[in-house]
Amino acid sequence: MTKLQKKMKKKLNKVAKDTNIFLKNYLKKQKKTKLMEPIRYGLIPGGKKIRVKILVDIGKILSVPYRHLIRIGAAVECIHAYSLIHDDLPCMDDDDLRRGKLTVHKKYGESTAVLAGNSLLTMAFEIISEKTFLISDMKKNQLVYILAASSGHSGIAGGQFQDLSFERKKIGKSKILEMQLNKTGKLFMFSALAPVILSNKKNMFKKFSNLGLEIGLLFQIIDDLLDFKGNAKKLGKKIHKDKRKGKATLISLLGYKNAVKYCNFKKDRIFKVLKSLKNSDDLKDTIKFIINREK
Ligand code: IPE
Ligand code: IPE
Ligand code: MG
Ligand code: MG
Ligand code: MG
Repeated sequence: MTKLQKKMKKKLNKVAKDTNIFLKNYLKKQKKTKLMEPIRYGLIPGGKKIRVKILVDIGKILSVPYRHLIRIGAAVECIHAYSLIHDDLPCMDDDDLRRGKLTVHKKYGESTAVLAGNSLLTMAFEIISEKTFLISDMKKNQLVYILAASSGHSGIAGGQFQDLSFERKKIGKSKILEMQLNKTGKLFMFSALAPVILSNKKNMFKKFSNLGLEIGLLFQIIDDLLDFKGNAKKLGKKIHKDKRKGKATLISLLGYKNAVKYCNFKKDRIFKVLKSLKNSDDLKDTIKFIINREK
């Protein structure tokens, strides 16, 4: 591991730890229902919390208090965990392993996995709208609005629909990119926009919205590359699943080498945008981590 990777891992681990502390405390305050155990299992252990790191890095650029970023990051992680629990279901990608453990439906059954996922989706909005979160109602409203739009039929759910309906079909590049921007890019877009909302810097909206989408797209293409050539043990999930399912990816369309080239092209574009941003060193390191990651 290089020096930069070590430094980055330490910072990412801190963000993951703080997010998990927030989530554990939040779950402790909840009513003790039978769904709590599968919710905790699918939410807390093992995830990288990379979306929270993006929030924290952009929050640093825009001078937003860390504890506000962690709360919003916790909400994002609830949505992300829900999307993974459902993504692994037999009616979707049909996977048995996630984060080095059995998937939620393998451990607790399918109906429980669907309901734990639903509960996580709504919990995200509880976390943002909770009374003890002391930001203005106007800001809460904006956060809820964008997070909802990023998660539904024009965001994650819509992208997942496209992903499944493209299986074993010849799909062009722009459709593949649109699907990936929806299923993965939109939640990164929210993570980049939340600090803009919290800091009231409305003139930054477009810049950070595009930046979040581009980082999310890059993240998904790297996920596809890792599925093709990564290490299952390190990833904590099986590899070669995209080929088995006939997924439409840049790799299936253009080949591995060209998909790598595309990532480099995207990375250069992202770094160009970051050049003009003060205090963006952490974000730059996170993007380098995303490109070189093994998990
Ligand atoms: C996996 O996301 C699914 C994609 C959107 C590519 P992550 O790689 O962020 O999953 P965890 O949270 O670290 O397990
Ligand atoms: C998942 O993409 C995207 C989501 C929004 C859940 P993948 O299906 O490629 O994620 P993995 O490879 O199963 O983690
Ligand atoms: Mg999938
Ligand atoms: Mg999957
Ligand atoms: Mg994948």
